[in-house]
Order: sequence, then structure tokens, then C-alpha cells
Amino acid sequence: MANADYFYHVGFGHIDLGPEPPLIAVLSGDPERARLIAQTQLREVRMLSENRGLNSYLGLLPDGRPLLSATSGMGAPSLSIVVNELVQAGIRVIIRIGTTGSIQDDVKAGSIVITNAALCRQGAADDIAPPEYPAAADPFLTVELVNAARDLGIEHHVGITASVDSFYEGQERRETSANPHLMRRLQGATEEYRRLNILNYEMECGTLFKMGSVYGFRAGCVCGVIAQRTSAETIVQERKTAAVDAAIRVAILAASRCKIPGSR
Ligand code: URA
Repeated sequence: MANADYFYHVGFGHIDLGPEPPLIAVLSGDPERARLIAQTQLREVRMLSENRGLNSYLGLLPDGRPLLSATSGMGAPSLSIVVNELVQAGIRVIIRIGTTGSIQDDVKAGSIVITNAALCRQGAADDIAPPEYPAAADPFLTVELVNAARDLGIEHHVGITASVDSFYEGQERRETSANPHLMRRLQGATEEYRRLNILNYEMECGTLFKMGSVYGFRAGCVCGVIAQRTSAETIVQERKTAAVDAAIRVAILAASRCKIPGSR
């Protein structure tokens, strides 16, 4: 593996990570969420970079271990670049903290989805492993996320996520999309996925999971449900803060409990 002093896209290097570099990262699509996590959940926070809006912060968990709160940007191509550089920086566990649209009636806006595997319809993932290669979360990290949700009393669902490349066409949005010609192969996809017991749509975890298996790091994903696609295409703004807050709390508790062999 390359041992660069400085990682071109994330905009920081080994030297910025201090004498005890972090082994665990939480990864948000939105740079504001990465900042919020650092400010509300960590101690002694330092901003590492704001390069390209890929904001990264280093801080301490309650037990004193370092945690990186980083930004993936939107979608799998951006995530794949960031994750590649985080692994080169020494990260061995990545928990994605995202937002998602539910496609099941019982998965309500405001709750969270912990993904154990993804139907991965993502071009970036095909550059990492063949399409039929499983996109599976690390099982132990997933159990850690579920236990954290239980212990915090947070309404949660565990299951399969459709991880796709686009928010509008790929998630079969028509009323709120500028595209008047949704391709035939995407028409009816949401109903088909619903019948296949897929819980939700998001845009990054499939590629993250494949990278985890191929590169050899542990990957998990928890998302706050901010759209209820069984009733509308739009974001349920009044549930967004609660959903994101729940996902953050679950991820941070799981990260705090996550032990890495050979480290403290
Ligand atoms: N993120 C998605 O990818 N889809 C949604 O509906 C909401 C958040």
C-alpha cells in the first residue's frame, strides 16, 4: 500500500493524525454532519481539512481513543476516493452515518435503518469487485450498531438497503424530478424492491461494504429515515433532525464499544 505523507483529496496526512492515529472513522455524506458529530460527540476536536468540502475532524471518544469524523460527499464515486485515502491513513473501521428514504410502510420517518447488506446498483463498486460480489456489512459491527440502538431505546430496523447511484432516476422519483423520461427499466423498481423485503434507498453503503471486504476493513452503516416513499417522494423535514440525531448517537455508541485487536 502507498504510504503517502499527504492524501490529495481528503487534504491531510499522517503527520496531522498525531502520536495515536485514529483507527475508527464515522463517515457522513454532508460536511455539516461531520462537523456536528465532532462538535457534539467528541472532546478536544481539531479540524484536519476542509479540502473540496470533504471536511474532516479529529477528536476523542469518552474513553480517550481518537475518532475521525470525515465527509464522503454525495454518492459512491466520491465515497470510494475518500475511503481509499482513509484506509491509507490507517483507518480500520468505518461507520457510515447517512440519511435514507424508506420503501416499507413500517419503516417510518424519524426511525433508523441499520443495513446488514446492500443491493448494490453502483458503478463505482464495479471498479472494486464484480457486480455479483456480495455487498455485506461487517457482521460484528452490525451487531454492535443494533445493540447500541437497543440500549439507547431508539426505534430501529435491520435489513437490506438498495444502494443506488442517483437520488432522482435511481430511486424512481417522478413528481419531484426534472427528468420527464424515466427509463422503462427503472419504472416499478421501488415496488419490486419493496416486495423483495428491501427496507430503504440510499446512495453509498453498497460500495463501502464491497470496499470493506476487498480492502480488509470493517464497514457498517446506520441511516436516519428522512423520506417515506410509500406515501411521498419528498423529505419529511420535521423528522429529519430526530432521525439524524438518532443515527449519530447509535454510531458513536457502537464506535465507543468497538474494540480493535492490538489496540487499546
Ligand atoms: N437519501 C436518499 O438517498 N434517498 C432519500 O430518499 C433520502 C435520503
